[in-house]
Amino acid sequence: MGNKEISIGLFGFGCVGQGLYDVLNHSEGLKANIDKICVKDKNKKRKIESSFFTYDKNVILNQGHHNVIVELIDNANEAFEIVKEAMSNGVSVVSANKKMLAENFKELYNLQLKNNVALIYEGSAGGSIPIIRNLEEYYDNELLSSVKGILNGTCNYILSRMELENKDYADILKDAQLNGFAESDPWLDVAGFDTKFKILLLTIHAFGIVLKPDDVFNTGIQNVSYDDILYAKQRGLRIKMLGVSQKVGDKYRVYALPHFVNRESELFNVLYEYNAVEVEGAFSCKQTLVGKGAGSHPTGSAVLSDISALTYDYKYGYKKLKKALSINPNIEEGIKQVEFDFPIKLYIRFQDKEQLKELEILNVEEEYKSTTTNYIIANVSFNSLFNIYNKRDNKLFICGI
Ligand SMILES: NC(=O)c1ccc[n+]([C@@H]2O[C@H](COP(=O)([O-])OP(=O)(O)OC[C@H]3O[C@@H](n4cnc5c(N)ncnc54)[C@H](OP(=O)(O)O)[C@@H]3O)[C@@H](O)[C@H]2O)c1
Repeated sequence: MGNKEISIGLFGFGCVGQGLYDVLNHSEGLKANIDKICVKDKNKKRKIESSFFTYDKNVILNQGHHNVIVELIDNANEAFEIVKEAMSNGVSVVSANKKMLAENFKELYNLQLKNNVALIYEGSAGGSIPIIRNLEEYYDNELLSSVKGILNGTCNYILSRMELENKDYADILKDAQLNGFAESDPWLDVAGFDTKFKILLLTIHAFGIVLKPDDVFNTGIQNVSYDDILYAKQRGLRIKMLGVSQKVGDKYRVYALPHFVNRESELFNVLYEYNAVEVEGAFSCKQTLVGKGAGSHPTGSAVLSDISALTYDYKYGYKKLKKALSINPNIEEGIKQVEFDFPIKLYIRFQDKEQLKELEILNVEEEYKSTTTNYIIANVSFNSLFNIYNKRDNKLFICGI
């Protein structure tokens, strides 16, 4: 046990990879060094000596020089191939790739058991916020009832600036793209997919339930307008893009959806690129962790913490998942514990009533029409939200109340 030396084979030297390089250079006492870095673009200028770099993944994967692989690339399919190969070679892996982890969790879990290696990924949800190991270790016996949070820095940055600068979505999105706070194709972030991947990972560690991305409904801020921000502002509320995983009775509800939050909520004052995770348990009550949800150094520091954990051979115990699997060994049947048939109260802004026809509206509590904006406050069958799932041409803005 303890403090073994780590020789890192690193994949990716972009935002997070360079952040890791910096924080590792400033850390004292950790016996870890980056030995080789695999990147893609041969023509890109690098900030450090060229002798570090390779463009051939086999230089890292097949030569047995590294006892830890750190995967920080931006392509989920290529990342999956790298991580699978490393684990099959008996090497532990650190990753921050929520999409890759969420899409392939079952296979990655089985590879950990089969090869007796660790796959740890604190940087994949909440950036610098230490939430996964806390759910796994600190809250291991707590009767958790809810984990929810602001998990996407891009959405929170856009919503904060729209409200505080009285501007519309398109203006702020453009500016966010110019300033590096949003991708050139922002769909995965703004439409709630990124939040969904993260809440899916947190659900595994909080409740031991493994879901596939398509099992979890998400919509985001892609259709938000200043009218919605104004609606919230006039009522002392703010719109926050939330990932939600909560126990209701003996079932779980898991989704990613914008919500109105009020001043009493700890999430109200979490602004710009900050993230927050609120954990609620029977005995610990409500606790909120707040921190930078993305960025080079904050995410690099979460990755460094994982590398440090590997010096004492840390692995996720998956205690809650293993307990669930001892009752039903089919990991895919975790979905049976998830509830889809329940009413959810929503604010829905629309242009034309036709747009509402795919939703099963149970009852309308309030309806507003004007020349510029129309909305309803209604209870809607949650199941029917899947009828508008991942449709880029859907123009409704939907917000939980
Ligand atoms: N950015 C954040 O704040 C943040 C926060 C949390 C988690 N993450 C996750 O961290 C990961 C990295 O994100 P990032 O923002 O650092 O991405 P990025 O800035 O776009 O950098 C990606 C890096 O991956 C390299 N790369 C791409 N495909 C490769 C391949 N097949 N083999 C080797 N290298 C390859 C690129 O090489 P070139 O340099 O040659 O182009 C580049 O160095 C992603 O999974 C992301 O979701 C990011």
